[in-house]
Amino acid sequence: MILVTGGAGFIGSNFVLDWLAQSDEAIVNLDKLTYAGNLQSLSSIANDPRHIFIQGDIGDAELVAHILKQHRPRAIVNLAAESHVDRSIHGPEDFIQTNIVGTFRLLESVRAYWNELDAAQRQNFRFLHVSTDEVYGSLAQCEPAFTEQHRYEPNSPYSASKASSDHLVRAYHHTYGLPVVTTNCSNNYGPYQFPEKLIPLMIVNALAGKPLPVYGDGQQIRDWLYVADHCSAIRRVLEAGTTGETYNIGGWNEKPNIEIVQTICALLQETCPGSSFNQLITYVKDRPGHDRRYAIDATKIERELNWRPAETFETGIRKTIDWYLSNQSWVADVQTGACRDWIKKHYA
Ligand code: NAD
Ligand code: DAU
Repeated sequence: MILVTGGAGFIGSNFVLDWLAQSDEAIVNLDKLTYAGNLQSLSSIANDPRHIFIQGDIGDAELVAHILKQHRPRAIVNLAAESHVDRSIHGPEDFIQTNIVGTFRLLESVRAYWNELDAAQRQNFRFLHVSTDEVYGSLAQCEPAFTEQHRYEPNSPYSASKASSDHLVRAYHHTYGLPVVTTNCSNNYGPYQFPEKLIPLMIVNALAGKPLPVYGDGQQIRDWLYVADHCSAIRRVLEAGTTGETYNIGGWNEKPNIEIVQTICALLQETCPGSSFNQLITYVKDRPGHDRRYAIDATKIERELNWRPAETFETGIRKTIDWYLSNQSWVADVQTGACRDWIKKHYA
């Protein structure tokens, strides 16, 4: 079996659901269930014996050691993190604790477990660390997309904490020989994304007739990847990636934020003719230190592992909007408590 951390979050829940749809190999899912973790996203596998959910912290060494001893995973996919840039600006502490200290403690627990395996198991074991393109910093319009050789230049507390965890993972390979692989992915979108991130926030606000807050001039560029494509890339890297290597994952879909918001408005207009969602677009104060452009060069993963995204932005965004339209009770449930407080505080 494999151990997935953060498997109740956005990418984690998609990964767990996709994995069990494609494989009979069981998953132990360790998730702290912060505001971003949601077991409702996994309700369709609530009675599936191949999924074992454990609520807990990746930084809890005793718990992690117990899980490793009891379940003896052949691989770990580390998705657990604090992931929202704006929250890291309001309060970096949790990002340091989970993304840096938590990853360090997880690596220590895994190293102790891995050292006790027999030679063949040690060789086949994998620790796959899921990271982000934000560690590379911001690109000017004329610069080429990030390759794996791009220097690390993180600009937010979030990206700095992810960069730090990437360095720890790298060091555990070089120093202790732990068989790690790291992936650096661009912006994901799709089902089960918490509506504090751009795409789900715009969909749910538009449906509620609320303002669509675009930071600054809306010309910042992100490279969008449908979440199922990220999941298939992680599976592929787990299966065939070379230890000690890093792989960039991206959608070849660079788009300015304002275009994303206008596309969402236009597609919603198709389902709700007569409404004028564009009128809800509201330019608001920019994010401090806002990175202007991210773009991933995903040539290496295509050349070496034969992976390419299956979705274009046009197909992925339609699927995403359909999902949010059909799952409004999921949205309503996550929009209570912590989510409501965040929206009130951040967009005040
Ligand atoms: P998310 O915020 O939706 O989910 C994170 C999950 O981790 C939640 O379920 C949360 O409860 C859990 N968690 C947080 N702290 C924990 C801890 N200390 N111990 C155990 N579980 C904990 O995040 P996401 O968007 O699904 O991102 C998952 C990973 O992918 C992160 O590492 C993120 O940096 C990376 N990533 C995300 C994107 C993106 O666009 N969303 C892109 C590239 C990389
Ligand atoms: O690039 C990968 C990263 O993508 C991941 O590592 C992060 O975990 C993930 O959250 C995401 O970070 P971003 O900051 O790019 O995503 P977010 O959805 O917060 O914002 C996307 C863009 O939209 C960004 O330029 C800021 C802008 N934005 C965002 C919000 C929430 C707005 O204009 N208005 C908003 O209300």
